Amino acid sequence: MAESRIMLDVLKGKEVSPPPIWMMRQAGRYLPEYRKLRKQAGSFLDLCYNPDFAVEVTLQPIRRFGFDASILFSDILVVPHALGRDLRFEEGRGPLLTPISADEVDQLETGGFHEHLAPVYETVRRLRSELPAETTLIGFCGAPWTVATYMIAGHGTTDQAPGRLFAYRHPDAMKKLLSTLARQSADYLIRQIEAGADTVQIFDSWSGVLDEPSFKAFCVEPVAEIVRRVKAAHPEVPVIAFPKGAGVHYDSYRAQTGATGLGLDWTVPLSQAKRLQAGGAVQGNLDPQRLVAGGKALSEGVDAILNALGDGPLIFNLGHGITLDTPIAHVEAMVAQVRKGAAR
Ligand code: CP3
Repeated sequence: MAESRIMLDVLKGKEVSPPPIWMMRQAGRYLPEYRKLRKQAGSFLDLCYNPDFAVEVTLQPIRRFGFDASILFSDILVVPHALGRDLRFEEGRGPLLTPISADEVDQLETGGFHEHLAPVYETVRRLRSELPAETTLIGFCGAPWTVATYMIAGHGTTDQAPGRLFAYRHPDAMKKLLSTLARQSADYLIRQIEAGADTVQIFDSWSGVLDEPSFKAFCVEPVAEIVRRVKAAHPEVPVIAFPKGAGVHYDSYRAQTGATGLGLDWTVPLSQAKRLQAGGAVQGNLDPQRLVAGGKALSEGVDAILNALGDGPLIFNLGHGITLDTPIAHVEAMVAQVRKGAAR
């Protein structure tokens, strides 16, 4: 019953105590059961595009920890893949793509987009029927700017210099690329919702590397476009946006993009988080390294968030994805502490 999904209540602006909890990258290599299936599947993309594997991997952290929300197992880079760009993942190197040139932006193939992504929609459908009724199912996509940085550089970088340079050298091509990604990503999210996703999250992992006008043009406007399109099709479905590293730009981000919920990275001060919570649900923002460290570093970090934000609409989460060296016992301790409530 959708009414019993507490994360959806929080996204409507309600305070729920204890708050719902899930973790970005909750399915992944820190879990032995993930590593086992990953080996069986062969490649990471085989996991993403095979609904049997993808459903199983998505459910693993729910079974183990009983999180309040489950995030579809896939990757943000299946969108450029579905637009005809090549993509592979190499052990230890992360994603590899052939860098897109300014001339190639016009040649992105939108024709077979949904056929390519059909296994993802099938995964969402099966998940909604297999998940416990009280577990919220989150669909997702990458934000256009973050996805574009990987398409342009062809791999991960520390500062997305190739993407920034491309934007200044080829402003028209950049505009076209971001608007194509925004349109296709919105359609992708709408299909996930129609397959059973209760809410969707837009990951803008690289929004912290831009100057002010670029942040507005490359991060705010394309995300606002996605939110507009998703809300036009499904006005009742909450959209969470996560502009990692946005700093002072967080203050106007919710109003400017129309996002329902705001994902906060761990550098956002709790005083700023409190102000942002006055505008609606916030999600975050424990430093993932506190979870690796465990002990006092972890318990103090959890308490600080619960004390500052526990009396408003809060979704407890990390400030970015869990890292592969995180001990499982620390995740168990975090969940227990959040469910017990803050030591006031
Ligand atoms: O959160 C979840 O459990 C859902 C699955 C999910 C993955 N990637 C699985 C994954 C989600 C939501 C993502 C999002 C994603 N992918 C982002 C945005 C969020 C973020 O972390 O900043 C980005 C930038 C990517 C692109 C990507 N995918 C990179 C840079 C890498 C390599 C880094 C790494 O951790 O290896 C990936 C690979 C990836 N995506 C893995 C997983 C579980 C590891 C692949 C493996 O098993 O070898």
